[in-house]
Amino acid sequence: MLVAVASAKGAPGVTTTARLLASVWPTDVVLVDADGAGGDLSLLARTESRAPLDPDRGILSLAADARRGLHVDGLDEHLQRTDGGLDVLCGVSSPEQMTGIAPVWPTVATGLANLPGRDVVVDCGRIGPASPVLPVLTAADAVLLVVRPRLEAFAHLRERVRWLSQLHSSRGGPLAVGVLLVAEGRDRRSLGELTQLLAHERLPATVLGQVADDPRAADVVAGRLSRSIQSSLLVRSVRQIVEPVRTLAATGGTVRTTV
Ligand SMILES: Nc1ncnc2c1ncn2[C@@H]1O[C@H](COP(=O)(O)OP(=O)(O)OP(=O)(O)O)[C@@H](O)[C@H]1O
Ligand SMILES: [Mg+2]
Repeated sequence: MLVAVASAKGAPGVTTTARLLASVWPTDVVLVDADGAGGDLSLLARTESRAPLDPDRGILSLAADARRGLHVDGLDEHLQRTDGGLDVLCGVSSPEQMTGIAPVWPTVATGLANLPGRDVVVDCGRIGPASPVLPVLTAADAVLLVVRPRLEAFAHLRERVRWLSQLHSSRGGPLAVGVLLVAEGRDRRSLGELTQLLAHERLPATVLGQVADDPRAADVVAGRLSRSIQSSLLVRSVRQIVEPVRTLAATGGTVRTTV
């Protein structure tokens, strides 16, 4: 199962959400950093011995193999284990590197979507028509858009959902699109407003739930603070969206909204 996490605009929390989603994923999973603007994972995460990750081992080394015609099914040599025990595929350091490997993305995306025995969560960063990771979106079992409860953010999200609805999954049929709202727990209105907006415009996206706006726990995820966040609002909220995400990816779109 391949789940792509992305945003329409701004920095709503894609990397944070994708990392946590992969951390609480119930089956064997790999986290892939495919942010075309340059990945944050190799800058933020640490190995199990608290050393920095090697930025050259990941998408770049995998793309080099793919370019030489090697199969993408044996990912292990390109993965690095982070201190939480999560296996990650580091991203590129710059947009220029991303442009350089653009020709092999279709091969890499197909390989990731068919990884034996492992699910894949991909941080795609901001997406749009010029996105180098378009092949990842079309190969994904579900594309999750992360958004904050702001009028302009909802407007950009709507446009991106409209665009995604015109793409075709590489397995045929429409893409399964889910939406995750990063909002404060006491904000009970925004999720309903978002659901209504998408329904009113007949946009084919499922609002999957709310990720807690929890700056202190997000700081821990980014390595700016050190403490346990297992019982934080953020981790608890991400645990609650895992099953809706997996159901969306497994069924291709017919999941009940949480509102
Ligand atoms: N659920 C959350 N609650 C509070 N703060 C958050 C949450 N998720 C992310 N943040 C904070 O918001 C900022 C952006 O987060 P993040 O890097 O995850 O966003 P992004 O969408 O990946 O951004 P970019 O497009 O720049 O890669 C960071 O300071 C992060 O700590
Ligand atoms: Mg990011």
